[in-house]
Amino acid sequence: MLAVVPPPVTVRVPAKINLHLSVGDLRADGYHELATVFQAVSLTDEVTVAVAEEPGVEVYGEGQDSVPTGADNLAWRAVQTLAAHVGRSGGEAAVRVVLNKGIPVAGGMAGGSADAAATLVGLASLWRLDISRDELADVAAELGSDVPFALYGGTALGTGRGEQLVPVLSRHTFHWVLAFDQRGLSTPRVYQELDRLRAQGDPPRVGSHDPVVEALSSGDPRQLALLLGNDLQAAAVSLRPGLRRTLRAGVNAGALAGTVSGSGPTCAFLCTDAESALAVAAELAGAGVCRTVRVAHGPVPGARVVGGDDSP
Ligand code: C5P
Repeated sequence: MLAVVPPPVTVRVPAKINLHLSVGDLRADGYHELATVFQAVSLTDEVTVAVAEEPGVEVYGEGQDSVPTGADNLAWRAVQTLAAHVGRSGGEAAVRVVLNKGIPVAGGMAGGSADAAATLVGLASLWRLDISRDELADVAAELGSDVPFALYGGTALGTGRGEQLVPVLSRHTFHWVLAFDQRGLSTPRVYQELDRLRAQGDPPRVGSHDPVVEALSSGDPRQLALLLGNDLQAAAVSLRPGLRRTLRAGVNAGALAGTVSGSGPTCAFLCTDAESALAVAAELAGAGVCRTVRVAHGPVPGARVVGGDDSP
């Protein structure tokens, strides 16, 4: 008798922007204690998981040549970690993962984490697992600090390494312009640079996230614009001084404010509305300060099966 092969599952997953990122002390495990407000935005990757005779990872789209396809690909680690978690060790021997990337690689928008989260959701459906999103989030946290957020999406406060999440009420759709840089930045390298800057003379810190949470609930982009802040920005700018020019160009083009997202180098510019975002994007694209410009809005939901409602 022929075994029935389940059809491939495609999952859409969003990038994130950090509206606020406060970096605390370096912990004994090498991570920094964080308080960050994440927002998921409408810049997405699509990840397809399928039963296949030849296991492995394929990558297409934005930055495809700089994504590893071997054992250190985070989506592949997601396959192995979930297989072990649900007692299907060896299950990865029959899975193929195809990444269609729209999120910049090493861009500070958690693209690799998004792919890992999408892979978990895709496999849960492919393998017909009876597993809740909260249980998937525990597996996600083992893979990386930003992976749980990509599962839930929306707007959330992340603490600990960034993996402990509480939803934040966001009453408004916010409109963003994203400026991708020529090359990515290594996240550990940016954290190290912050440690170095702090050892030399404490650069100013962003302080509490409470005002950002209030601005999100009021829904006023002008109020939120005054409060965007990221402790990693000084470190990213120190490693990539050209970002200063990019940040200035976005505001000169009519954005309310700009910030480096996460560890950078992507810059995110908050705009008053969708129309203004298009105008800012057009002007920024002509300013010659970045590789590519995109518009996006947020918040949007986390990793979801495309055309299906059976994801956990
Ligand atoms: O968790 P993830 O593997 O994505 O983190 C990548 C790197 O970023 C870590 O190895 C660490 O150097 C740095 N990091 C940190 N503190 C955090 C999150 C990440 O120092 N809270």
